[in-house]
Amino acid sequence: MKQSESDFLNCLRQSSGYIQLHRGKTCVIYLPGELIVQSTNLQQFAEDIGHLHALGLKIVLVMGASPQINQALGLAKINWQNHQQFRITSVDMLLTLQQTIGQVRSQLEAAFSRQQTVANQPLSLCSGNWVIAQPKGVINGVDFQHTGQTRKINKQAIRAILDSEQIALLTPLAYSLTGEVFNLNTLEQACSVANKLEADKLLIYTNPQQMESLPRQLSLTELKNWSTNNDEQYQLIDQLINHATKVKRIHLMNESDPGSLLIELFSRDGIGTLVFTDRYHQIRPASIEDVSGIIDLISPLESQGKLVKRSRELLELEIQNFSVIERDGLVIGCGALYPFEDQSAELACLAIDPSYQGQELGEELLKYLEKSAQKADITQLFLLTTHTQHWFIEHGFKPGSLENLPQSRQSLYNYQRQSKVLIKELKHA
Ligand SMILES: CC(C)(COP(=O)(O)OP(=O)(O)OC[C@H]1O[C@@H](n2cnc3c(N)ncnc32)[C@H](O)[C@@H]1OP(=O)(O)O)[C@@H](O)C(=O)NCCC(=O)NCCS
Repeated sequence: MKQSESDFLNCLRQSSGYIQLHRGKTCVIYLPGELIVQSTNLQQFAEDIGHLHALGLKIVLVMGASPQINQALGLAKINWQNHQQFRITSVDMLLTLQQTIGQVRSQLEAAFSRQQTVANQPLSLCSGNWVIAQPKGVINGVDFQHTGQTRKINKQAIRAILDSEQIALLTPLAYSLTGEVFNLNTLEQACSVANKLEADKLLIYTNPQQMESLPRQLSLTELKNWSTNNDEQYQLIDQLINHATKVKRIHLMNESDPGSLLIELFSRDGIGTLVFTDRYHQIRPASIEDVSGIIDLISPLESQGKLVKRSRELLELEIQNFSVIERDGLVIGCGALYPFEDQSAELACLAIDPSYQGQELGEELLKYLEKSAQKADITQLFLLTTHTQHWFIEHGFKPGSLENLPQSRQSLYNYQRQSKVLIKELKHA
């Protein structure tokens, strides 16, 4: 088999689990005007949304148009000001805004219609007056005039659109109960709509500065405590922690690469930054204070023969090899790495508290341990297991034999347990 064919098969195998996982899930996608400006990016985006739609995801698009509005206001010689991160919208800007947003929306609809012929299936975009706006008001003495904020969202109407297999489209314009037109900050709008729908995912295309030095994954609590001197990043974080707390997962992706949407959703490692709002745990190296928690966790598994018995004394001596998952002060998961010769290490004692199993915590801990091993220049992980062979194989390990183990580990092999040997080569950047 050619390398390209085997790469293709690996991708297909990896993504099939995610296809199942995401079917029927509600995704709100923030599409900034910057992405729409580039026609090739827009076409790529429309094509990818077509794939998501075909795979059964329910999609709400929140469209921005800032660069297009900036350009149109410039051409019309209308000056404007920003206060905090918001544009102050005066009444003489409204016509230009309505025209420009109409044009951008038309570009988007054209791209989706073209996609319809490529994919040979209807891809219907539908928009409406589902968001009721109110004036942002006067803040610190600054009157925001026709810059608005979300007052109410007609969740039932948006749900009806999604249930009829259409894509719901929201633009920066919304109307008050008195019939006035307001210009909304679309990122804020995307967060509020995702919150109201209690969306499974909020996917946000951002610029690279906004994602600067953010880790690949973090919890909402960690995001709240994130300190930054970068104004743009601060504004993004501010929106997320104030308006998107009911969304299960928030994904931040680079706006110059529309394809990151599919990689983020259908690959194990993703490509952007993932913010969990449904998990409040941390993974960290274990300390001596964790020994009792680890014993509580692993003792039942030792009795069932799933893990090798370890005395408290041994655990205390080897605690520096362990990492734990902690939630609300409790150890709910653990795993250990024991270095051996030839840049290899044994992965051992991986366990998740039964009340927390099935939430991908085992996978998250495994990834953490693999990363720790990579940082320590380990190129091969091996493990011995009696009950969990398939789980590890699903996570990239391959069956091996006793001879594949480092010499010093072979001599310690317990023939009574008859454990299976599994091996994983670690890639180094
Ligand atoms: C193996 C273990 C760490 C996985 O933790 P987890 O947080 O539940 O794992 P994830 O949520 O990432 O994965 C859950 C999936 O793995 C499957 N799984 C769990 N144990 C499995 C096993 N022994 N063999 C095959 N699949 C298994 C679950 O059925 C579930 O599948 P699904 O998503 O199709 O429903 C956890 O089940 C555990 O602590 N097991 C007991 C200890 C053990 O055997 N450790 C290995 C020592 S070497």
